[in-house]
Amino acid sequence: MTDETLSNLLREDRRFPPPAALAEQANVTAAAYDEAAADSEAFWAAQAARLDWAEPWTQVLDWSRAPFARWFTGGRLNVADNCVDRHVRAGLGDRVAFHWEGEPGDTRTLTYADLKDEVSRAANALLSLGVRAGDRVAIYMPMIPETVVAMLACARIGAPHTVVFGGFSAEALRGRIQDCDARVVVTADGGYRKGAASALKPAVDAALEECPDVRSVLVVRRTGQDVAWTEGRDVWWHDLVTAQPADHTPEAFDSEHPLYIMYTSGTTARPKGILHTTGGYLTQVAWSHFAVFDVKPETDVYWTAADIGWVTGHSYIVYGPLANGVTSVLYEGTPDTPHQGRWWEIVQKYRVTILYCAPTAIRTFMKWGDAIPAGYDLASLRLLGSVGEPINPEAWMWYRRAIGGDRTPVVDTWWQTETGAQMISPLPGVSTCKPGSALRPLPGVSAEVVDDAGEPVPNGSGGYLVLTRPWPAMLRTIWGDEQRYVDTYWSRFPGRYFAGDGAKKDEDGDIWLLGRVDDVMNVSGHRISTTEVESALVSHPIVAEAAVVGATDTTTGQGIVAFVILRGDAADKGAEEDPAQELRAHVAKEIGPIARPRQILVVAELPKTRSGKIMRRLLRDIAENRELGDVTTLTDSTVMDAIRERLPEGS
Ligand code: WTA
Repeated sequence: MTDETLSNLLREDRRFPPPAALAEQANVTAAAYDEAAADSEAFWAAQAARLDWAEPWTQVLDWSRAPFARWFTGGRLNVADNCVDRHVRAGLGDRVAFHWEGEPGDTRTLTYADLKDEVSRAANALLSLGVRAGDRVAIYMPMIPETVVAMLACARIGAPHTVVFGGFSAEALRGRIQDCDARVVVTADGGYRKGAASALKPAVDAALEECPDVRSVLVVRRTGQDVAWTEGRDVWWHDLVTAQPADHTPEAFDSEHPLYIMYTSGTTARPKGILHTTGGYLTQVAWSHFAVFDVKPETDVYWTAADIGWVTGHSYIVYGPLANGVTSVLYEGTPDTPHQGRWWEIVQKYRVTILYCAPTAIRTFMKWGDAIPAGYDLASLRLLGSVGEPINPEAWMWYRRAIGGDRTPVVDTWWQTETGAQMISPLPGVSTCKPGSALRPLPGVSAEVVDDAGEPVPNGSGGYLVLTRPWPAMLRTIWGDEQRYVDTYWSRFPGRYFAGDGAKKDEDGDIWLLGRVDDVMNVSGHRISTTEVESALVSHPIVAEAAVVGATDTTTGQGIVAFVILRGDAADKGAEEDPAQELRAHVAKEIGPIARPRQILVVAELPKTRSGKIMRRLLRDIAENRELGDVTTLTDSTVMDAIRERLPEGS
């Protein structure tokens, strides 16, 4: 973010107090801040008590082996029981859990009672495949009800799941299956995207060529497309799951039993397996969903328009909303299929009251124009949320006006895969919102903005965002790599969690998130590391060296720009042929289409410091078409001139 944008942000002086009607009925009031400040452990214990525990905990927080936290130690509970059976026991079995909308327009309604039967059958099916508590199950699925069912079935039998986003490649899937040693994979023939069936099973087949330990693949038939079949390993969901009894008695697991592993990009090429556990995670996702979205389970229709393959889907499509017994919308496809009003048609059809999505979607809708949402009845909406990347004030204002009818609060929620749950966000019945600011830490959460030396910055200044106290939904470790957990998050500022984000405190002390301060890019709300893309590029035979930067992009937040040096023979050929297309496709194949570079520039040399470090800052200047910053630490300052000469006309 440039200094100019920064000062624009801080000149933002529009204010939006909570609507009186919402404030009067709000689930959470300002008192929560005081209660949590007085005793945060007592505060979280009160929120944990909103769940059903088979065994009470003996200690709220055990931080004796910091930074390895244990929450609600000694307590036992079952996550699926809390998300499903508990509501059926309370007589709410007929309440809709999901209104599912397939991209081609087919629909399914699942009540909590339906969900209980389906999850029980799937749990029995997994048991019949030999899955036991503690075994890892990989889930590689489109956005269909079976995805939620599979996750809850795993939770029910204590088998941690790792959901791999369906847009990831076979290669990415292989790496994740191997890293957590999953023995069973749940997938589908394919799903619908952009008006066509998009296959998933071939990627599983390709990944499993190098995963000999996977013994079973459970396949949902969604699109009906042809699939290759490995006898003895592959089994259809409709054969195995449907035949199972709909009874299954859930066992209570320890509060610290692993619930899932979610892989996310860090600053190295190897994604990190973020481990979340049971009691603390469910407590905080359930409470934050209740507080930040002010959900009224009897009347609200809630929609997180994100993919279940990301943490947002885990916490705010699956675990949070279900723990609160809420009715949700689940949509399979893309926002412009079959037309650009698809989301608004869904809001109108199901009378959606709360919508949660990423700024990149909002900016795309802005580009498509006001007339599209204006053609639908969006009066049911009462609250809007944003997540995944900084939301610029204009996008915030547009969201509130064009979608929220100038009446709905917009909550900008900051959190991460690692935090598990929302951390910094307005409370809609309490906070006066400022367009572009996440405001302050939620009750029970402690954050600070610090300088290089770790000292809190004064109001009006910027620095690094840190979390100063453990929180219930925090990651417990990086799967299989405790040292990396300590090094990545707890060593930059000892005793505090380093989020990797820059932030600024305004004159009121409110927090404005400014984006990553490390080599992680944020493209359409997806975290992608520069090194991950670089190693994909250099794995192509024609590439000698690559440097990748995230350049500001008005729609996607950041766009991936790659600078590559070709190998000798390829470089000669490169004069006639443009290898960029080939390399873009290669990255998509290695990581997934979301990582495909927006632009690839073939260069003769890369700018390096005397110690051999690539100066990405200068490449970013080029990618963003700016005057070059300080070049004095370069070994050879003519390198930059040579790169500029190679730029295509007009860039
Ligand atoms: C960014 C997504 C600004 C941030 C839940 C963070 C945000 C990363 C916001 C985590 C926000 C998320 N404002 N930036 N409201 N929310 N981010 O792990 O850089 O996919 O570190 O989790 O997204 O991305 P992740």
